[in-house]
Amino acid sequence: MLRRLIGILGFAGILMSLGAVPTISAGDDVPFPNGFRDWFVVNSMIVTKDSPISAQIGGMHIIYVNAKGLPTLKMGGPFPYPDGTVFADDVHDFSVKDGSYVEGSKKAVTVMVKDAKKYATTGGWGFQVWAGGDPSKPLVPDAAHAIQACFVCHTPQQAQDYTFSTYIP
Ligand code: HEC
Repeated sequence: MLRRLIGILGFAGILMSLGAVPTISAGDDVPFPNGFRDWFVVNSMIVTKDSPISAQIGGMHIIYVNAKGLPTLKMGGPFPYPDGTVFADDVHDFSVKDGSYVEGSKKAVTVMVKDAKKYATTGGWGFQVWAGGDPSKPLVPDAAHAIQACFVCHTPQQAQDYTFSTYIP
């Protein structure tokens, strides 16, 4: 059941139901991470069609963190991350050419913004994803949807303040 819900409301599901979510309630607003391509590049991950999470988050992921969260990332704690920390995930299509995985066009930009009070129901993180990385196209309508579409999959990472990324020298 959970798997189905995630399938429906997950990353791909959200992208497909874009038209069904015309407005975003102001109370759950997560700002677009303007200028994030100039932040610290944390790591990258390619989720191929062979992955069980391909339907939800398939693509080439390039993760960034802002200056506020960088010291905690580098030290591997102590957690939680300070309020004001922002992680952004620049998700691109990719193709395989002669055995090389080649970055393609932008699929989406996802974000996690830390504000322990404001986003208390989702581990103190505000979750949002923008279709095609377009700031005018946020896809998560409210915190309730963020739980199913994002937070359930990040919950096992609780010991690391719900983030997957670690500093890779
Ligand atoms: C099926 C599981 C799954 C779902 C659903 C999911 N994520 Fe993630 N997310 C991951 C994984 C795995 C990583 C690590 C990627 C990497 O290390 O390159 C990640 C990384 C991230 C990061 C970078 C910070 C970190 O945790 O390392 C952000 C930001 C993020 N996700 C936002 C979101 C948002 C917003 C949603 C909902 C729209 C979402 N995620 C849904 C699995 C998921």
